[in-house]
Amino acid sequence: MNNYTSIHDILDPLAMIKDAIALKNEPFKLEALGRHKTLVMLFLNSSLRTRLSTEKAAKNLGMDVMILNLDNAWNLEFEDGSIMNMGTSEHIQEAAKVISQYADIIAIRAFPGLVDKTKDESEIVINSFTKYANVPVINMESSTAHPLQALTDAITITELAKKKTPKVVLSWAPHPKALPQAVANSFVEMMQRLNVDFQITHPEGYELNPGITKDCTINYNQEDALRNADFVYVKNWSNYKDYGKVLSKDPNWMMTKNKLGNARFMHCLPVRRNVVVEDSVLDSPQSVVIEQANNRTYAAQVVLKTILENQ
Ligand code: CP
Repeated sequence: MNNYTSIHDILDPLAMIKDAIALKNEPFKLEALGRHKTLVMLFLNSSLRTRLSTEKAAKNLGMDVMILNLDNAWNLEFEDGSIMNMGTSEHIQEAAKVISQYADIIAIRAFPGLVDKTKDESEIVINSFTKYANVPVINMESSTAHPLQALTDAITITELAKKKTPKVVLSWAPHPKALPQAVANSFVEMMQRLNVDFQITHPEGYELNPGITKDCTINYNQEDALRNADFVYVKNWSNYKDYGKVLSKDPNWMMTKNKLGNARFMHCLPVRRNVVVEDSVLDSPQSVVIEQANNRTYAAQVVLKTILENQ
């Protein structure tokens, strides 16, 4: 692995998951691997879990870590050939190469604007870094993908599954704000590569990118979809067709204890209580959201390890 910008960069998901679980059992086993190597993390958007878990993962491997919030740096220009006589001060061509002088690996978080689908799908920030940086690039959530989260979720399901082929349901939930499709996209792509019985449930009209959901079962009846589920992954996303709009806040789609049945409850966090999911679910032993957050470290660590071993 050179870059980790989507889950398609993983050759063998099962081997990667196994490797991550081995690191979880012995997190400091490879602390010499990253000695004198530096991870530079760049944030264009807020983060709690990604920031802390990726830093912890890097330190477990003996790496140094530098973090830059890009809203405190020069405004970057991403368009090739642009005449920079407006608000941007530095072109990505120089910035990516300069950061590569200080970094052995660059990790970036850059959310979508959720206004212009074509622009968001071009993934200009992450793709510009992979194009112009001289070192590997890790996606810490881009416009359309959150591959570190998806790897985390695969680790969590693998650890907790009691069946060879567990039933996993991705269930849309209401939310007051327009949120990206990134977590849902990467989760769908990961489930397509695991041995799971997978369904997606959401209100009609809330279909994700059909290029991603391809052969997935989509069930508009949430109750029917949730029947006999082993894992229920709850997530809001804004409308994909009517791009970035909040067309439904239907509280009937909130996850409740009654709907969850005996399944494990999963969410990437942060989560709005009693909007996305009721308290009694989050406060029950069926919720594995804290274990997911813990596994963020080992997902990041196995990705960093794989890249370092390739350098
Ligand atoms: N799940 C996740 O990516 O959390 P943060 O936005 O806090 O990093």
